[in-house]
Amino acid sequence: MSGPELRVLDDPAAEVARLLTETAAAGGNIVLTGGSSPRTAYELAAAAGGDWSAATVWFGDERCVAPDDEDSNFKMAREALLSRLDAPPTVHRIEGERGFEDGARAYEAVVREALGAEPRWDLLLLGLGPDSHCASLFPGRQEKDVTDRLVVGVPEAALEPWVPRVSLTVPALNAARRMVFLVTGESKRDAVRRAFVDEDPASPSARVRPRDGELTVLLDAAATP
Ligand code: 6PG
Repeated sequence: MSGPELRVLDDPAAEVARLLTETAAAGGNIVLTGGSSPRTAYELAAAAGGDWSAATVWFGDERCVAPDDEDSNFKMAREALLSRLDAPPTVHRIEGERGFEDGARAYEAVVREALGAEPRWDLLLLGLGPDSHCASLFPGRQEKDVTDRLVVGVPEAALEPWVPRVSLTVPALNAARRMVFLVTGESKRDAVRRAFVDEDPASPSARVRPRDGELTVLLDAAATP
């Protein structure tokens, strides 16, 4: 069986910006990712503008910090994208400041209220950690095995920043219609191999596969195994 398709592009961020703009214009449910890799894509999407007013923006994970903290995924997305749009979307951020348990419970309730038990995200973006984690589902931690919830609290991170997290679970991620990983830089090359070539069962990102949708892995040359 062949694994997921790896698309190597000169400018993968530009492709992500294009997908964001297209999905937003269609009024889709968009899940943003955190970390540093997507910032350029968000800035390019903001520069493209367009009408996001019918779209809804969600987050795949959050750090348990205040929304104006330097480590907040929401802060990064707000600065790079959301605050720059003339016709902004509805935004459902994860309230990390409530702590990992309460923050997860609250976000699960918001997702279920808006989209039901199987949220069909139109575009779900993910990054890949050097340890092959995605969202805040880390290798060797039990949160990656949770299947009876859409959102899980993560008491301890396995990488910087060392703060608890709130994350969508594998089944919630796998409900996406279109899932896109954006991975750049040489430090991610081994993780790409584990997640998408070897499909190592110990890698959380090797379990993240849409049940009824498509997966695209967008890479630059440096991240390509
Ligand atoms: C987070 C994430 C995380 C991230 C990867 C890649 O909150 O940290 O959402 O899963 O996407 O760790 O992060 P970088 O782009 O910073 O390498």
